[in-house]
Amino acid sequence: MGLSEFITSHQEAILEECEAFAQTLLPAAAKMNKAALRDHAAQVLAAIALDMKQPQTRLEQREKSQGNGPRLNDNVPTAAEIHGSLRATDGFDVNQTAAEYRALRASVIRLWFASTPELGRDEVFELVRFNEAMDQALAESLLHFANEAAHMRNVFLGVLSHELRTPLSTIVASAHSLVLASRLQKHLPAAAERVLRGGKRIESLLNDLLDYVRSGIGEGMRVAPVALDVGLVCEKIIGELQALHPERGIVLQSRGELAGVCDEQRIAQAVSNLIGNAIKYGSPDADVQVALDGDDDNEIVIAVRNRGPVISSATRDSLFEPLVRGVSGDKTGVSLGLGLYIVREIAQAHGGSASVSSSAEDGTEFQIRLPRHAGANEVSAFAGLRMH
Ligand SMILES: Nc1ncnc2c1ncn2[C@@H]1O[C@H](COP(=O)(O)OP(=O)(O)OP(=O)(O)O)[C@@H](O)[C@H]1O
Ligand SMILES: [Mg+2]
Repeated sequence: MGLSEFITSHQEAILEECEAFAQTLLPAAAKMNKAALRDHAAQVLAAIALDMKQPQTRLEQREKSQGNGPRLNDNVPTAAEIHGSLRATDGFDVNQTAAEYRALRASVIRLWFASTPELGRDEVFELVRFNEAMDQALAESLLHFANEAAHMRNVFLGVLSHELRTPLSTIVASAHSLVLASRLQKHLPAAAERVLRGGKRIESLLNDLLDYVRSGIGEGMRVAPVALDVGLVCEKIIGELQALHPERGIVLQSRGELAGVCDEQRIAQAVSNLIGNAIKYGSPDADVQVALDGDDDNEIVIAVRNRGPVISSATRDSLFEPLVRGVSGDKTGVSLGLGLYIVREIAQAHGGSASVSSSAEDGTEFQIRLPRHAGANEVSAFAGLRMH
């Protein structure tokens, strides 16, 4: 059987092998389901088999081996191009993306040889055509991977500069009035408070950013767990947020044993991100409810609930991805779309998890499940993400 025919008729077996390989590309692959892992591989393969059947000139052959082959339609991205873009948004790095193509090539050739084809001139010619088409697909994928990565970086820098400008302009304006007022000794406390608030917001944006950037250089988030009472940590953070938002009700309910072993600062950060979101995006006329559940011997569950528009199931999971901001609520506030990402990383660094549920009856609830006794982690909790 010729190679292109073999690819078409053995597509399932080839994809199975590639899928098994893609699953070893941890950690990016760890959060992907089966369908996502094979997503466009099937279409890439079909396009290659089809391409091998088309007659081609010598010029086309040379162009293709350099990734400049002819296109069926200039306006429609090829399967390989889509595959490359998706791999960038899924957190794969460039080596992992290229490795998938190596796996695809190796699987095809291995399975074809295993079927002991007769190797005449035509078959060898087909093998050459196959390699040229693979090179073309790889070049398309990598180009789109790089474009997508550059786009993500630009969006990120754009959002960052935009978001830093708001608190910074408050600081500058308030500093101006401080200078003027200091001559007359008027309005000093209010202006000083605005300077402080703007400065603190910039500080918190930069802290989030630092956590995110560290993830890119593989430093990761370390947790230093100590014995503490999760209830007390939450009470403290609720007290602070309540002082910042006296107009909003934040209600705490606790049950069971809340003594555990975890990183106090990181847990406070995660809970503060969740309550901050509930205040920002939740309905202003209902309390934010924080529920702590220590009934289980092995875990402590922290849930933050608010009323407001239901988050659709399609967008729910993506909210935990970095730089993702939903459409709901706050249009003017400062945000980078890193809050929930950091919440999830903190939960995972403790060996726990973060999730969300949302319905019209029960409202929106974000949950952190923590093992009662988290161990110190030496591995990067951010390892799933690389900055491109
Ligand atoms: N409690 C909530 N209710 C409704 N939507 C929410 C809630 N929490 C988060 N979201 C949605 O999820 C998106 C991502 O949240 P996340 O905390 O990661 O980023 P952000 O709040 O936009 O920015 P940052 O936290 O970095 O300042 C938000 O933009 C918002 O649309
Ligand atoms: Mg947030």
